[in-house]
Amino acid sequence: MCGMANAFEKKLLAWYDENRRILPWRENPTPYGTWLSEIMLQQTRVEAGKAYYLRFMEALPTIEDLAKADEDLCLKLWEGLGYYSRVRNLHKAAKILVEECDGELPHDVKELTKLPGIGEYTASAIASMAFGKKEVAVDGNLLRVYSRLEEDATNIKDPKAKEKCRAFFLKKMDERPGDFNQALMDLGELVCLPNGAPKCDACPLASFCKAHQAKKEQDYPVVEKAKTKKEEGRIVFLLQYQGKIAIRKRPDSGLLASLYEFPNALGDKEESWATNYLKEKGLSFLSLVPLGEAKHVFSHLVWKMKGYRVMLDALPKEGDLLFVTKEELLERYSIPSAFSYYLKSL
Ligand code: ADE
Repeated sequence: MCGMANAFEKKLLAWYDENRRILPWRENPTPYGTWLSEIMLQQTRVEAGKAYYLRFMEALPTIEDLAKADEDLCLKLWEGLGYYSRVRNLHKAAKILVEECDGELPHDVKELTKLPGIGEYTASAIASMAFGKKEVAVDGNLLRVYSRLEEDATNIKDPKAKEKCRAFFLKKMDERPGDFNQALMDLGELVCLPNGAPKCDACPLASFCKAHQAKKEQDYPVVEKAKTKKEEGRIVFLLQYQGKIAIRKRPDSGLLASLYEFPNALGDKEESWATNYLKEKGLSFLSLVPLGEAKHVFSHLVWKMKGYRVMLDALPKEGDLLFVTKEELLERYSIPSAFSYYLKSL
């Protein structure tokens, strides 16, 4: 390892040892804990992830426990985190590990990426943090830090940027690969901030940073503008009968697969539309009261919802609706946060 790389790593790790965040998956890390936390943190902020992580670990402390668990329990533990395919893949992978690998995660990136839900990033994070392998876990933080260090104007959405970032840090990584990655993550989240606000005075790598030396920190990273998302109008029904509320299970593939939801239909129509829709479904009701509008933003889609509370005067004779009490709903069924506005009005 050449001298420069060592100075870089030394400064980075010394900063990490002083300033690192204390996080539950970092203290006495285990392969399972590293895996779970990395999956959770893919679309969830570190602060929000902590409580979910601790609760999940308490309910399902080992890969065997996860493999044996009911899918509904896994989904329930994930409720509110969104992107539920993450937990479904976690569950599938746990079953594979128990059946084929004695319940142990493999140590190398290639083997890890064969498991459902484990991509290059997660595999590298697990291999470095849990097994001490020299692998760079390239996330948005590392890309930003890299683009500034090297004044690299490659669009960070371009796979080339990822490759260059990986190669750059790999050359500097030597003694503690897991901490090296996590130091860069913390640096990205605490110091090398996005949106033109880096705290270069507090940065251990300022003397290595080309953008800083050129006073051009603000120009990096170069990011492609986000595409506008498709918008979808949805009418959401809170169908109530004798203290119970109707939910139904979503299909087992696609958006929010296998979760439960309040019955809803595509459309941004007026109240008369809602009334007709219910009649067509054979649902007779005593009252229909607007509950207001809510919006939910998915990765590629926005739902603009209008809700109605509907008091039924009889249970439907057929159909896929399940009538449950509020307590049952909260305890047993996972309602995705897209519906939380209406869940609150129960
Ligand atoms: N984001 C994702 N994984 C992380 C980790 N291990 N530490 C800090 N931030 C993270």
